[in-house]
Amino acid sequence: MTISIIGTGFVGVVSAAVYASFGHTVYGVDIDENKVASLKNSVVPFYEPDLEQLLKTQQATGHLFFTTDYSQAIPQSDIIIIAVGTPSTQEGQVNLDYVFSACKSLAPHLKPDAIVVLKSTVPPGIAKDVESSIASLTQTPFSIASVPEFLKEGTAVHDTLHPDRVVIGTNSDKVFQTLAELHKPLQAPILRLSVESAQMAKYSSNAYLATRITFINEISDICEKNGADVEEVISAIGLDKRIGTHYWYPGLGYGGSCFPKDVKEIAAYSRSVNLHNNLFNTIDRINEERIPKIMNNLETTVGGFEGKTVAVLGLAFKPNTDDMREAPSLKVIPYLLEKGATVIGYDPKATETAKKVLPVHDRLQYALTIDEAIKQAHLIIALIEWQEITSYPFAQKKNEINTYFFDTRNQFDEQELKTRGFVYQGVGR
Ligand code: UDX
Repeated sequence: MTISIIGTGFVGVVSAAVYASFGHTVYGVDIDENKVASLKNSVVPFYEPDLEQLLKTQQATGHLFFTTDYSQAIPQSDIIIIAVGTPSTQEGQVNLDYVFSACKSLAPHLKPDAIVVLKSTVPPGIAKDVESSIASLTQTPFSIASVPEFLKEGTAVHDTLHPDRVVIGTNSDKVFQTLAELHKPLQAPILRLSVESAQMAKYSSNAYLATRITFINEISDICEKNGADVEEVISAIGLDKRIGTHYWYPGLGYGGSCFPKDVKEIAAYSRSVNLHNNLFNTIDRINEERIPKIMNNLETTVGGFEGKTVAVLGLAFKPNTDDMREAPSLKVIPYLLEKGATVIGYDPKATETAKKVLPVHDRLQYALTIDEAIKQAHLIIALIEWQEITSYPFAQKKNEINTYFFDTRNQFDEQELKTRGFVYQGVGR
């Protein structure tokens, strides 16, 4: 088959390389000339483990291409996958401009009976709008389907090659057969749903995980009030098979390119269908308020930030990515700066992306090593659980100034740190 993937972000590039690895001819299409130029040279413009290698291997086979030219890719394509970004508006509604712009660009070039697949996360019902937007620009017959993506950044290649399930939303037997055939090499359960159910499945999955994280964060706040340790609580309740201990790390709240956006969008979508007082409004509000609340408490505990040097370790939104979207550092660092602290940031991979959104100034510097970042620190905030940070031997460091250590992911040994003179604070304990 020949496949075009429109949008060369995480989902687009990973999907393109994976479909090419199944032997299909794949075109990655993007309007961003710089991105396409970089991908043509097998250079991934963001950090994602294993992706560059997969890209190189597939480009070497001669059936994976990147282009800005719709007229080169679409006329040959049996399947066109829309994987462009769907950011939220200020009001939390989904912004579908990129989706409709892709529709407009692809419509004049469609091959008869092509399948247009929505991989971008869009609210249920939008497939009909996408269909009519394309149909208004072409006489060529085509079908619409939805195949939502569940990959995680940092493990995107692995997740795409080993999904828990493949969800195909379509009302056509023929389209289902073609798309099921495409995903057969993945050896994962393939589910056939309606287009609307497929889109609801994606929103529900992310909204559930965000709710789960928010739930354990709320429990951890209660634990802090009564001497309980949330990690002990998780170990006990997690043995209930209905609950489990997986995907349950308390911290400063969820971030990244999906959860905050998807929860806002399902909340806004619920309101738009007259479900005003919905759970997702509350989850979103709690998550938004979490970092300011925690920083406020920390400020009181350490006696203010004015004049203090703070090492912030981990700037990306999570480990194994350089993605800064909705990263906790974006709220933590401005808070510290506003309260008069000097901040030294460190991240194994995200320093350059961090500098773009939090530029260097007289009280914000970036260190090249953890050693350098913590040298003068009155306070260390371990924000993201990069392995390089969690395995760093803090407890072997000489600490003569009673550095305060805020372990926002409960990754470090409290006793060891205390014996070396650190004042330790975890979350929910
Ligand atoms: C998420 C979904 O997992 C994925 O299925 C979907 O396709 C896209 O959104 P991603 O955003 O890459 O993937 O990262 P994920 O590892 O799920 O983490 C999201 C956020 O939740 C991060 O801020 C992370 O730190 C936070 N998180 C995750 C917690 O706070 N606690 C946890 O137990 C797990």
